[in-house]
Amino acid sequence: MAYNLLKGKKGIIFGALDEKSIAWKAALKCYEEGAQLVLTNAPVALRMGTINKLSEICGNAPVIGADVTNVDDLKNLIEKSMEHFGGGIDFILHSVGMGLNVRKGKPYTELNYDWNQKTFDISSVSLHKVLKTCWELDALNEHASVVALTYIAAQRVFPSYNEMADAKALLESITRMFGYYYGERKKVRVNTISQSPTPTTAGSGVQGFDSFLSYAEKMSPLGNAPAEACADYIAVMFSDLTRYVTMQNLFHDGGFSFTGVTDKVLNAMKPDA
Ligand code: NAI
Repeated sequence: MAYNLLKGKKGIIFGALDEKSIAWKAALKCYEEGAQLVLTNAPVALRMGTINKLSEICGNAPVIGADVTNVDDLKNLIEKSMEHFGGGIDFILHSVGMGLNVRKGKPYTELNYDWNQKTFDISSVSLHKVLKTCWELDALNEHASVVALTYIAAQRVFPSYNEMADAKALLESITRMFGYYYGERKKVRVNTISQSPTPTTAGSGVQGFDSFLSYAEKMSPLGNAPAEACADYIAVMFSDLTRYVTMQNLFHDGGFSFTGVTDKVLNAMKPDA
């Protein structure tokens, strides 16, 4: 059901790789709620071509390639988006992440620092780059809303999350810091949504993901939040209904973050009789 929450709003969605991507579902939801969109992903991801299907569903939204680590790409993306929209931008979804050490199977205690730096650049500093590019071009409208996606490994240890735990902690810090400056300057809001484990390409890259998923499911009173529900929350965060929410890390995890233990987990832990 649509509520026209984003009627007349214009936004950029980063990171829709395929139909499983959280960004894919978010784009569908924002379009359904009345928004006009520009879609973007890394040039290498665009070569897969899947995003063109999403563009068609979303009223032929322009697809503009940008590597989030490349400031020239981002400048081009923001300028072209403003041209397309005929003015400023109301919302941005940063749904981008990549752990090079994770991908290459390097454990946390043996990190390769070149890869680690690239991980931070793609997964964390890129949010700063996006916001700084918007800042310099004065691209965001008053009360615009920027959301980035994160995971609770930023606060608590999940060993297999590896360097991405540090990347998410940095992402959340950039959210608070830039949220302060952009709030003061133009009432722009910047928040992270901390999502349940979700079966996507990035999610499934975490070692032992299936066990992870089933543990989180048992540890969440509402169960794991699906990607579609995350998309709903993102749409609300882009709407005017949340215009005084900024610099927050918002848990969207079925209650996982505040649960000590559940009966389901205790039952699974029963010592052998
Ligand atoms: P996904 O694999 O569908 O999306 C990740 C996206 O990042 C892809 O579209 C990929 O092309 C893009 N990307 C990677 N390097 C890039 C670069 N250099 N420039 C531009 N784009 C680049 O996976 P998912 O799960 O939808 O991930 C979206 C966000 O949600 C990520 O930040 C992830 O860490 C976060 N998240 C995911 C969870 C999960 O369990 N799947 C849980 C909590 C947060």
